[in-house]
Amino acid sequence: MTVITTERLSETVGAEVVGVDLERLAHDAALAAWTLEALEAHGALVFRGLHADDAAQVAFSKRLGRVEVFGKGEHPEIFRVTLDPTKNRAAGYLKGTFDWHIDGMTEDVPIMATLLSAHAVAASGGDTEFASTYAAYDDFSDEERARYESIRVVHSFEAAQLMGNKSPTPEELARWRSRPAKEHPLVWTHGSGRRSVVLGATASHVVGMDPAESRAFLDDLLARATRPERVYRHTWEVGDMVIWDNRGVLHRARPYDATSARDMHRTTLYGDEAVQ
Ligand code: SIN
Repeated sequence: MTVITTERLSETVGAEVVGVDLERLAHDAALAAWTLEALEAHGALVFRGLHADDAAQVAFSKRLGRVEVFGKGEHPEIFRVTLDPTKNRAAGYLKGTFDWHIDGMTEDVPIMATLLSAHAVAASGGDTEFASTYAAYDDFSDEERARYESIRVVHSFEAAQLMGNKSPTPEELARWRSRPAKEHPLVWTHGSGRRSVVLGATASHVVGMDPAESRAFLDDLLARATRPERVYRHTWEVGDMVIWDNRGVLHRARPYDATSARDMHRTTLYGDEAVQ
């Protein structure tokens, strides 16, 4: 078998995987372990032109970890990321993916990784961007590292939804607030010993800080973490599959039209590491 190689896609995040086709995805017994290691090293892995159907994506996802189940049907592990409400009843919430975020930050244990396959792409917009939160931590000065060690941040669904809808109805607000908020440290010390910064749309406020100061502080850290030179932007072709390590990567979709055909099939892998 040919050797699988990676080609870095930016200085701090993303690598293209070369040498994997559908046959190998299904049958190479060593591929899952290789992929998890490469994910830890690169944060996001791009498999161009793989054309994995739902069965192939779910089967490979299951070899990487425990896969979330969303619905019923033949492949209940597949969640369709589309703004078309006839394909996904939760489409209305997916505009939230246009802001930088880390999935599952209102949970005790955020998801480990996400696999996204392009079944239809947008005529315009719809790229996905990635930025490493390990690199964001590495950028801090020693003084910042010491100061940020004890900072705690409240994450909420409400904060994330407010970014795209600044004037919610009382019903919307009540619905958002029914999802409990979660407090996390700003700096996540992983089991591996690496440290990352926990930021993004769900970050509502810093505990004990004046609200305006807190907003400015979180916005500034996010802007630093996602400076253009720190971002890998993936322009999708039908058949591409990207996997990202949700524990150390912020991501966002670039806006696309609500009538767009863009249709991405997502599987998510449960995490096993609380933010601590
Ligand atoms: C997501 O945030 O899970 C989806 C990103 C995308 O649609 O590009």
